[in-house]
Amino acid sequence: MRQYYIAGNWKMNKNKAEAVELAKGLVAALKDGKNKYMIGVPYVYLDAVAQVVKGSNIQLGAQDVAATSNGAHTGEISTEMLKDIGCQTVILGHSERRHEIGESDELINKKVRKALADGLDVVLCIGELLSDREAGNAEDVCAFQLSADLSGVTAEQMAKVTIAYEPVWAIGTGKTATPADAQAIHKFCRDHIAKLYSKDVADKVIIQYGGSMKPENAQELLNQPDIDGGLIGGAALKVESFEKICKTY
Ligand code: PGA
Repeated sequence: MRQYYIAGNWKMNKNKAEAVELAKGLVAALKDGKNKYMIGVPYVYLDAVAQVVKGSNIQLGAQDVAATSNGAHTGEISTEMLKDIGCQTVILGHSERRHEIGESDELINKKVRKALADGLDVVLCIGELLSDREAGNAEDVCAFQLSADLSGVTAEQMAKVTIAYEPVWAIGTGKTATPADAQAIHKFCRDHIAKLYSKDVADKVIIQYGGSMKPENAQELLNQPDIDGGLIGGAALKVESFEKICKTY
């Protein structure tokens, strides 16, 4: 049976008690789930949530990490720190960091390589703006981001990389890419990874869809042959909606 990878991106939401409660609810709800699960938790609640998900089938993820090791980097959080508190995964290149904070592909690439070198798994987010899509440039943008952000990542390291295709115009807007549009670009991304690495690497890489995925549309998206999971924002903030997506299959 096909195994999906469903991840929740909590973004900058919840207080500590709510974060712990949500994590407890998910551990109970997903304990018999057959898919792979991850939650991307705000830095300050990672430690508390780590105690809850320890020993469960839910991986703990951060939403960013520094490109450098421990040292004089005010405000940064290192791979060493994330691993120290039991974090296995990091979400990188999210469009909110690209477009609100101004992260460049060069910086994202440094973070990807640092995280992989230090043994963390990476969920690398890519995706085009509405203006890119309207100009017919969606594929070019995704190809550029994949090439730039994965530069220097080895074929072996790709086993620890998941790609999340998130069209920026679909994030938090309630607008979802049609299953056919999403499938087309997922296939394009997989073919691009085959060009960068090999067909074998491309066949194995998990490509999640992200952007207003919810229980009502999860099935038709996950039915597509090149959509291997989801990166969920809004619908990951409640046990019921995230559980439903996780248990679509
Ligand atoms: P959304 O967010 O599900 O709220 O659209 C997805 C994401 O940004 O990862």
